Amino acid sequence: MDDVDDPAPGAGQVLVDVDLAGVMFGDVIVRSGRWPMPLPWTPGIEVGGRVAAVGPGGDEGLVGKTVVATTVGQSGGYAERALTTAAYTFPVPDGLPLETALTVFQAGAVARGLLSAMRLRSEDTVLITAAAGRIGSLLVQLAKAAGATVVGAASAEKGDAVREFGADHVLDYTTADWPERLRDLTGGRGADLVLDAVGGTVAEQALAATADGGGRIGFYGYASGAFAELNVQTIARRGLAVYGPLGILTRKTDAEQQDDALYALSAAARGELTPRIHTRFPLTQAAEAHQVLEQRRSIGAVVLTRS
Ligand SMILES: NC(=O)c1ccc[n+]([C@@H]2O[C@H](COP(=O)([O-])OP(=O)(O)OC[C@H]3O[C@@H](n4cnc5c(N)ncnc54)[C@H](OP(=O)(O)O)[C@@H]3O)[C@@H](O)[C@H]2O)c1
Repeated sequence: MDDVDDPAPGAGQVLVDVDLAGVMFGDVIVRSGRWPMPLPWTPGIEVGGRVAAVGPGGDEGLVGKTVVATTVGQSGGYAERALTTAAYTFPVPDGLPLETALTVFQAGAVARGLLSAMRLRSEDTVLITAAAGRIGSLLVQLAKAAGATVVGAASAEKGDAVREFGADHVLDYTTADWPERLRDLTGGRGADLVLDAVGGTVAEQALAATADGGGRIGFYGYASGAFAELNVQTIARRGLAVYGPLGILTRKTDAEQQDDALYALSAAARGELTPRIHTRFPLTQAAEAHQVLEQRRSIGAVVLTRS
C-alpha cells in the first residue's frame, strides 16, 4: 500500500472513510490487464463507510452518515478514504448491516436492471450462468421471486448453494452435455431467457440451449476471458433475440439507476434479497482476494475490510 494525500471532493463528489470495499470480477479484469486503464490505478468500484465530507454545494446532512457508494471514475475504493459519486451514494437503511448493504446495492441493482432489460416474464424458464456468483446469486433470487422457473448453471461444487439461492434446477456447466440436459428439463424447448456472465464456450453452449422461435439471450460478462463466437445466420434461422443488457442498463437515467439501487437496499432490508458473503480479507490482502475470484473459489461476494 502507498500513502497519498487525502483526496478532496469536488462538486458532485463525496469523501468516504472506507470501512469495507467490494471485490468485483471487473476489478480482476482491469487489474489483470484485460481492460487497460490509465496508470497509476487503484482498484475499487464499491465502498461502504462513513461520510467525511461532501463537495461544494453538496448535501452537508450526509456528513457522518453511514453509506454505500460507487467510486468516482470506478476506481479508488481499495483505500482508507475514497471519493464517491454523490448521485450513487446511498445512506444504509436502519438495521441493515453495512456488509449486506455493500454487497447488495450495486450487484442487486445490476441484477434487477438486467432482468428488466431482458423483459423477464413469470412464465419464462430462465437460465443463469455463474449462478453462484455475486450477481448471479441475486439474479437467481430475483427471477425466482418474479415467478419464473430458474435453472442455475455453475461449477459442480457450487450446486448446493445455487439451489439454496432458489434455483428450481441446477446444472454443472463443466460437463459437456449440460445444454442437452437443459433441453430435457424443458421438454425439448430450451430456455426462454438466458443471462450469461461467463462468455466463451459456456456462452456458446447457453446459446445452443436457448429456445428456438423467440428465446432471448443476454451477454453481460466474460469471466472466462473470452467472448462467445456468434453465427448470425444460425441466430436468424433459429429466431433468437440477442441482447447486450448491460448496455441497456448503463444507459438508464441516473434516477432510474438510483431506483434500482434503492430497490436492492430496501429488498435486502425486508429480507427479500439476501447476498451471501463468501469471505473477507483485510485491505492489505487484496491480492489474495483477487486470487479467490480468479481461482473460481467464491460463492457470493468477496469483501475487503479496513484492517
Ligand atoms: N457492475 C458489475 O458488477 C458488472 C459490470 C459489468 C460486467 N460485470 C460482469 O458480471 C459478471 C459477474 O461478476 P461478479 O462480480 O458477480 O463475479 P462472480 O460471478 O462472483 O465471479 C465470476 C464467476 O464466473 C465463473 N467463471 C467461469 N469461468 C471462469 C473463469 N475462467 N475464471 C473465473 N471465473 C469463472 C465462476 O463461477 P463458477 O465456478 O461457478 O464457474 C466465478 O465465480 C462478470 O463477468 C463481470 O465482469 C459486472
